[in-house]
Amino acid sequence: MTDSEYMLELTDVHKIYAPSTPAEVRALRGVNLTIKHGEMIAVMGASGSGKSTLLNMMGGLDRKTEGEIILDGIDMDTLSNKMMTTFRRDKIGFIFQLFNLFPFLTALQNVMLPLLLQQQDQAIARQRASRLLRELGLGGRLDHKPGELSGGQQQRVAIARSLITQPKLLLGDEPTGDLDTTTSSDILSIFRRLNKENKQTMVLVTHSEKIGELCDRIVRIHDGKIVEEEK
Ligand SMILES: Nc1ncnc2c1ncn2[C@@H]1O[C@H](COP(=O)(O)OP(=O)(O)O)[C@@H](O)[C@H]1O
Ligand SMILES: [Mg+2]
Repeated sequence: MTDSEYMLELTDVHKIYAPSTPAEVRALRGVNLTIKHGEMIAVMGASGSGKSTLLNMMGGLDRKTEGEIILDGIDMDTLSNKMMTTFRRDKIGFIFQLFNLFPFLTALQNVMLPLLLQQQDQAIARQRASRLLRELGLGGRLDHKPGELSGGQQQRVAIARSLITQPKLLLGDEPTGDLDTTTSSDILSIFRRLNKENKQTMVLVTHSEKIGELCDRIVRIHDGKIVEEEK
């Protein structure tokens, strides 16, 4: 592990889906971006511009086609898929656009799971997960399954699950997209506080200019290219 000042360094990153077929899509077309440890960044752009693809590349959920991605000092090309999975489990929190909660587990069990996968003690996992869910306003829903929760409540369970391990890097794909304005700004202040307290790096895809303004920097993407960075 190096002591790089950057959490992420992307150099000329390209992603082509279904290359050399009639279905070929050039989703990322030469992205250059560096993100410092502890930065909180908003990624904004129209639907189809490549935001989710970019996040997937940053979190090692999918491999780039060309270019270089250095994550916390490690060239992602040097990690096997198995190493990548462990790396992700221990360092990265992901809030997916479609939540990806386990339907047969309760809210509490969904949030405990990442800790259990890290071999943490069950009682401690339960305690930490219920505290975090209460903090996110779900104290009365611990034993509900995702199907018994509203979209906004499911989203908050997904947020809790991504934060429970205190990951160095949090990647959120429209993490507050299903929340009303008040809940959304409450969640944003929790993100901001954790970002400051734990020096967690955060990359949040959002359509909200208001959320963008609360971040340290806005990165705008258009047709797979970064077109603007604002402080
Ligand atoms: N798995 C995939 N296979 C083929 N094309 C994809 C896939 N995922 C995304 N795309 C295409 O890549 C482009 C960027 O998609 P995406 O990153 O999801 O954009 P955004 O999140 O900004 O809406 C779009 O044209 C989309 O249709
Ligand atoms: Mg998307």
